[in-house]
Amino acid sequence: MPSKVESTGLEFTPLHKTFGAEVKGMTWDLPTPKDTIEKITDAVHKYGVLVFRKANLSNEQHINFSRQLGELDDVKAHIKAGRAMRFPEQPEIFDVSNLDEHGNVITDADPLRRANNKGNTLWHADMAYNPQRCAYSLLRAVELPPHGTGGETEYLDSRTAYEDMPTSMKDRIEHLITNNSLFHNRKIAAPETFKDVDPLKFPMSRHRLVQTHEPSGRKNIYVTTYAHHFDNQSCEESQPLLNELLAWVSQPKYLLSVPYENDGDLVLWDNRAVLHRATETGTYEGKYRRDMRRTTVKDGGKYGWGENGVNCNWQAGLTN
Ligand SMILES: [Fe+2]
Repeated sequence: MPSKVESTGLEFTPLHKTFGAEVKGMTWDLPTPKDTIEKITDAVHKYGVLVFRKANLSNEQHINFSRQLGELDDVKAHIKAGRAMRFPEQPEIFDVSNLDEHGNVITDADPLRRANNKGNTLWHADMAYNPQRCAYSLLRAVELPPHGTGGETEYLDSRTAYEDMPTSMKDRIEHLITNNSLFHNRKIAAPETFKDVDPLKFPMSRHRLVQTHEPSGRKNIYVTTYAHHFDNQSCEESQPLLNELLAWVSQPKYLLSVPYENDGDLVLWDNRAVLHRATETGTYEGKYRRDMRRTTVKDGGKYGWGENGVNCNWQAGLTN
């Protein structure tokens, strides 16, 4: 049943038994009225994922709306490192399209970009590999490939998955700390391309595996394919449990698939409450343009910096 918030005109229709909702009644007037921002943040904390159809935002509106949710991450470090960007003047926009800097579809001729995109098809929470993780991601469809050629984003209700765990498992994992590496995920996704990269040669972020999602008070399992090892264990020792946990949380009953229906659709999610991945079954790859752009809001909460120390000053390399 949809629930309507009278003061704002917003209506939330659940998309799954335990999480996700489609939002109707959003007008996108900027700056957004304070009570509307409050209702949206309350809703994303409750549902984990919010889908807005035909938001039709420009880059500037996308950035300005996102800023009202907190401090934004940006790609300045990547621009500085020499990576060509499509929007160097708007570093808050993360280009998660299948397009190069000239707007052409990426093909196998650019194996690094293809491999990076492949890494995003593994379960993750955005920026879990950085010392300060992010809270929200806002992913906007600018230009979609033809219907039926794939490109959905899939989400997992990691809070419910945690709550459903046997007590013996909860006790076993309660105090574990993960060491997270973007390169670890990329190596799993594209072992050939990244065969000479040793994740241990780069700094890793440390985050608690089990933590309370502060706004809802519910516990969440923050397990991603960036997790290389647990504290005081090797990668080889850690991977069996990490795989077991990923298998648990990715059971079909915790999964919500969100198809993009129209150019202009926008999805907002809370990375502290859900996991996600891009689907790799799309037949559009290498053929059709899929222009997706993201803004990312840093986690200014108690667990934002994890076990890394506040204002720890490194950032992981190439991101996507
Ligand atoms: Fe992502």
